[in-house]
Amino acid sequence: MVKQILMICLGNICRSPIAEAVMVDTISKAGLSNEWKVDSAAIGGWHVGNSPDQRALSTMKKHGLPYKNKARQITSKDFNEFDYIFGMDDENMSDLESRAPAGSKAKLLMLGNFGLEKSDRIIEDPYYQRGDAGFEKAYQQCVIACDAFLKDAVANKL
Ligand code: 4NP
Repeated sequence: MVKQILMICLGNICRSPIAEAVMVDTISKAGLSNEWKVDSAAIGGWHVGNSPDQRALSTMKKHGLPYKNKARQITSKDFNEFDYIFGMDDENMSDLESRAPAGSKAKLLMLGNFGLEKSDRIIEDPYYQRGDAGFEKAYQQCVIACDAFLKDAVANKL
């Protein structure tokens, strides 16, 4: 059975598109593309229908990751369709926990809890930061975390 992953952040134009693209790439490099599906969505509706922030797109391009999706907002249905829903920070996690319908299927996990040092486990919002350093940092965190998550998932440790 195909397992489904949903990457979540506040706006779905900075962190979660990067996390989505990195997870797709990690799965592809592991030869597991037939077994996993990956999507992303927002907590808020401000950017629905928009492409990612230019800085997110250029960070993905720089690392050879294609990206075509547009922002969408999470729905209550998502909590029963996806197996794993990842937030990027503590605020995302509390928003996800309060929106999850009772008894829904998805495991709610913070992405940075996989493979990152405790002091580095928050994937910070780079939207209001000047320049693109925060986007590169988010990308680097996602590479480590996606790899660590997939290894745990394949080893049935989740
Ligand atoms: P993201 O960044 O959650 O990483 O996509 C943000 C993008 C937009 C807004 C907030 C965070 N905003 O308030 O519009």
